Amino acid sequence: MKQSVKLIAGNWKMNGLAADLDAVIGELTLALQAEPPSCRVAVCPPSTLISRLAGAVRGCPIEVGGQDCRAEAHGAYTGGVSAEMLKDAGAGLVIVGHSERRQEFGETDLLVSAKAEAAIRAGLAPIVCVGETVEQREAGRAVEVVRDQVMNSLPKAVVGRDFAVAYEPVWAIGTGLTPTLAQIEEVHRAVRAAMIERLGLASAPAPILYGGSVKPDNARAILAVPEVGGALVGGASLKAADFLGIIRAA
Ligand code: PGA
Repeated sequence: MKQSVKLIAGNWKMNGLAADLDAVIGELTLALQAEPPSCRVAVCPPSTLISRLAGAVRGCPIEVGGQDCRAEAHGAYTGGVSAEMLKDAGAGLVIVGHSERRQEFGETDLLVSAKAEAAIRAGLAPIVCVGETVEQREAGRAVEVVRDQVMNSLPKAVVGRDFAVAYEPVWAIGTGLTPTLAQIEEVHRAVRAAMIERLGLASAPAPILYGGSVKPDNARAILAVPEVGGALVGGASLKAADFLGIIRAA
């Protein structure tokens, strides 16, 4: 059976200065040029570092992503960054709807959908994040919650375009906890079914990433789960050796 290429994306969150980027990307580019990855690799640094990263990875198989964008293209939104601005700075992807934004900034599925649509409008590939809280999982509602988020956070505009969904259980992010492989498979299958219900079979090539405490030592097992099309990596993407370990597991 043909295996599609996985996507390993690093989410630096609000971490990293120019010197950190130079060190990590210097090490990554050397390693990936010596031995090209068998997966797609993306790094999503803070927006202050996007153009620096775009310059540093020229000629190297590392894609550049933003961590969020506004839905509007421009306007009086102090502090805001639009998808067009990320694209202009050198990004090719953008994460939208990360649970930290849903929780800290009250972002709704409706807003996340508008942001994903803005990404498509600007020519960026959105990585649309979904995931249940610990209370929702304990109440036996994980699949239902994630299904609803997929149905409501994916705009029709993604059909036929490069995009991904990332399943990130909120309780697994930055905690060292991960669901069992069976739980990951259950949710990923439900995400795929919801994507097809919402967007049709044309959405079938889009990868469903797993995110939440992915490390070099659990990456191989997680990436082998059916319907896991890659990983969204937080903490471990800040260290070149750890991120490389995950890339090599894909
Ligand atoms: P983590 O974060 O890998 O540090 O758990 C994942 C994420 O928030 O995307």
